[in-house]
Amino acid sequence: MQTANAIELNAAPFYLPQQNEVELFRHAYENQLPVLIKGPTGCGKTRFISHMAETLGLPLHTVSCHDDLTASDLVGRYLIGDNNTQWHDGPLTRAVREGGICYLDEVVEARKDTTVVIHPLTDDRRVLPIDRTNELLQAPKNFMLVVSYNPGYQNLMKGLKPSTRQRFISMTFDYLKPAEEQRVIEVETGLDNARASRLVQLAIGLRSLKDMDLEEGASTRLLVYTAKLIQAGFDPIEACRAGMVESLTDDDDTIQALMEVVKANF
Ligand SMILES: Nc1ncnc2c1ncn2[C@@H]1O[C@H](COP(=O)(O)OP(=O)(O)OP(=O)(O)O)[C@@H](O)[C@H]1O
Ligand SMILES: [Mg+2]
Repeated sequence: MQTANAIELNAAPFYLPQQNEVELFRHAYENQLPVLIKGPTGCGKTRFISHMAETLGLPLHTVSCHDDLTASDLVGRYLIGDNNTQWHDGPLTRAVREGGICYLDEVVEARKDTTVVIHPLTDDRRVLPIDRTNELLQAPKNFMLVVSYNPGYQNLMKGLKPSTRQRFISMTFDYLKPAEEQRVIEVETGLDNARASRLVQLAIGLRSLKDMDLEEGASTRLLVYTAKLIQAGFDPIEACRAGMVESLTDDDDTIQALMEVVKANF
């Protein structure tokens, strides 16, 4: 039996939309279309997927892709047991059998042979061929493939092939607008609006420093970290150093320059 508490525990994680992505995702799901999400680190991609999975009542199977990840890691493999070998489904196969969202995070990192298994799942066939077990799984209606990556620091060679990209509905995420980002900080950490607003202004300042040679701007994630340190009673300038500046760069001169911006804001 579901108690009021259980319902609360099951509530979708807080997510403040950037644009029309909630609607778009819902339509994609209802029409069995796979989704690709691009955007810088810490801008809410993973939070969005968790939110949508809960909202749509779907199990979420997440795979963090890395450069050793092969098709077998996704599909499954035979493993040697005590006195026999047994087939073990990988996360993609499990998601196809059970239904739900299979979320391949940082998909461009995965080995190229993974596209072989993704392709027949992401066109109108929606099938997963498993050569080793001689199966051809038809994806159920409630199966959805979602991939994400950060185009910012990928080298060009690592980008997705057109024949892969053109199998997805695509959404581009960016940092939230100031008022929304401030609200996220307040909701996530309980920081008061004056200081949350100051943190957002600081992030805008740091993000605009084009000549600093930073790989990426200060993410919403780092703002949330910093706000948590401030909420816990940490000195704001030191919180910004640990929660933001030191996580952005290792270069001493850049750290000093960024700390000047911090001090000018607090
Ligand atoms: N739109 C949003 N609504 C609610 N919280 C958000 C939103 N955007 C960012 N956040 C906050 O920022 C944090 C980081 O977001 P998330 O982990 O989703 O980033 P990401 O885009 O998946 O980053 P990465 O590419 O590094 O995996 C979240 O834990 C949440 O606190
Ligand atoms: Mg993520």
